[in-house]
Amino acid sequence: MNHFLDIHTTDAADLRSMIDTARAMKTARAGLPKGTPDADQPLKGRMVALIFEKPSTRTRVSFDVGARQLGAETMVLSGKEMQLGHGETIADTARVLSRYVDLIMIRTFEEQTLLEMAEHATVPVINGLTNRTHPCQIMADVLTYEEHRGPIAGRKVVWSGDGNNVCASFLHAAGQFGFDFTFTGPPTLDPEAAWLDFARSKGVRAEIVRDPALAFEGADLVVTDTWVSMHDPESAKERRHNQLRAYQVNEALMAHAKPDALFMHCLPAHRNDEATSAVMDGPHSVIFDEAENRLHAQKAVMRWCLGV
Ligand code: CP
Ligand code: NVA
Repeated sequence: MNHFLDIHTTDAADLRSMIDTARAMKTARAGLPKGTPDADQPLKGRMVALIFEKPSTRTRVSFDVGARQLGAETMVLSGKEMQLGHGETIADTARVLSRYVDLIMIRTFEEQTLLEMAEHATVPVINGLTNRTHPCQIMADVLTYEEHRGPIAGRKVVWSGDGNNVCASFLHAAGQFGFDFTFTGPPTLDPEAAWLDFARSKGVRAEIVRDPALAFEGADLVVTDTWVSMHDPESAKERRHNQLRAYQVNEALMAHAKPDALFMHCLPAHRNDEATSAVMDGPHSVIFDEAENRLHAQKAVMRWCLGV
């Protein structure tokens, strides 16, 4: 069963082939109205369930549109409105949904929910974000980097800010796609040591540099994300902002990166907190290509899951 649960647990050659498929599919439908079905309909006759236990704009719309372009029917479900949100077990939910649908994408809180869904479903399950990782986002980010600058292998990626779920999947991708990764942020918000070790085990450099100006030196790609994630308590906001202010991505810090460095943010952003509008709307930024590429990358992920 091809579940797409995380980048570090998916075969590296399969990940590469998904990026290449995504790029080819994007090129093949360039300029067509968004509602035009793809020429190939590999998901024709399939039913896709998209479950959200947290808010979403990009994941929700890009999966829905992408599945339809591939010929599938879709349903978007809110965790709160399902029996799942009222005490039915994940295992029973997985068994029941597997009788109705061919593919399940879930955005949830605890990673354990995703893993239980995958364990008990008899159809593929896709991770649409947990508190711990966000693999679909980084598939889109790798696609975006390579469209603009060629192979990401051997490049230097700098993450500035919170070592969160998106950062974790970036570290997994560093190992699987072969690029170097520098984290810069406060020690209290470091990424999990296991993820740095994973990247290193694949032979790439994965390091922590506290001084952001030093960290940005020679960066090919600078990435950040919100300072307060959906699973973080609102009460932590002020403390996090105080700890993270020095890691705001602004023009002064970007000047330390390579002149042709790209800037990414998975969005939604809090403008002028984690990144200034000057950077988000400036010459390095590819944030809206990233958002678009969620669509193309996830179409390749869905095809891989279903083997079509
Ligand atoms: N980047 C991302 O996953 O956005 P949404 O929360 O809008 O889905
Ligand atoms: N780190 C953010 C990503 C949102 C797409 C969160 O988990 O809220």
